[in-house]
Parts: sequence; structure tokens; C-alpha cells
Amino acid sequence: MASRSVLAIGIVVNTQEYAKSYAGNCINCTNCHLDGGLNPNTTSFVGLAAVYPEYRARNARVNTLADRVNECFERSLNGQALSADSSKLQAVVAYITWLSHGVLSGATIPWRASNALSHGYLSIPSMESACLRANALSVTASTARGR
Ligand code: HEC
Repeated sequence: MASRSVLAIGIVVNTQEYAKSYAGNCINCTNCHLDGGLNPNTTSFVGLAAVYPEYRARNARVNTLADRVNECFERSLNGQALSADSSKLQAVVAYITWLSHGVLSGATIPWRASNALSHGYLSIPSMESACLRANALSVTASTARGR
């Protein structure tokens, strides 16, 4: 479990390193779900396992927590869904389940969908250009250091 948690936290805070092949842009989960999904004002992950599976009008079916995580991989990260048996997907689901320990199934989660960043959740393009600029700077810096 410990190593699975480490993997999950790695994926959430540094998606670009731990799940790069599934991300189509340069954003990490934590750029939107701040503090690794713990911040109550930016769509926190805490308690979410208690509300899934849940019907979603967007795709007109019941979604598991894994489906919802994959939706962010596909839409927010402009990438691709992980397969159901992927250890990475299972690690993220286990992490969110752990963050939901003791929350009763179907409970109303007061901080759910609270989102200080929205109305701007920073737009994905502006976030992307920010991280591309940061990446370019670090390349320039390492070139300057002769690496
Ligand atoms: C570009 C911003 C962005 C990124 C990056 C992002 N998400 Fe999301 N995520 C959202 C938004 C917006 C929502 C919907 C919030 C709402 O319903 O109010 C959401 C919703 C979710 C939900 C469901 C929340 C709920 O209340 O049901 C989960 C779980 C989730 N994201 C996981 C992830 C994971 C894991 C990653 C990284 C692999 C990720 N997200 C990356 C923006 C993002």
C-alpha cells in the first residue's frame, strides 16, 4: 500500500513524470486540484470515493471513480484513458479512497465542487503556455550551465 500511495501522489503532483505517456499537455493534476487534491477550495479529492459510482449527464451513464479520473486524463490533460487494470489508475483510485476513509457512502460533501479557481479554473491554454514557458526557462538555464 505504501508504495502505491507514493505512486499515486507522484501521479497527482507530478503527472508529467509519473504518467507522462497519458498526458497530452504539460499540466499536472495538482495544477487544478491544488495541494495534491487536498485543498478544499479547488475540487478536493477528500471524500470523493463515497459519492461514486455516480450518474453523469455528460456521458449519460453511471461513472465509477476510475471513469472520472480517466475523464480528467482525457479532457483536462488532453491525453488518454488508462486501462481498468492499470496499476497507475488503481493507485490514484486507492489514494482517493484512502482520502475518503470514514466518509459514509452517499454522504453530502460540503466542499465538493467548491472551486475558487473557477470561474477561472485557469484556462487550459493559459496554464499550458505557463508551463511551456517554465520548461523553456529551465532548458535555457541548464544550457547556460552547460548541460
Ligand atoms: C486543467 C484542470 C484539471 C486537471 C489538470 C485535472 N483536473 Fe480533475 N477536474 C477538473 C475540473 C474542472 C473538475 C470538475 C470540478 C467540478 O465538478 O466542480 C474535475 C473533476 C475531477 C474529479 C471528480 C470530482 C468530483 O467532485 O466528482 C476527479 C476525481 C478528478 N478531477 C481527478 C483528476 C486527476 C486524478 C487528475 C490528474 C490525472 C486531474 N483530475 C486533472 C479539472 C482538472
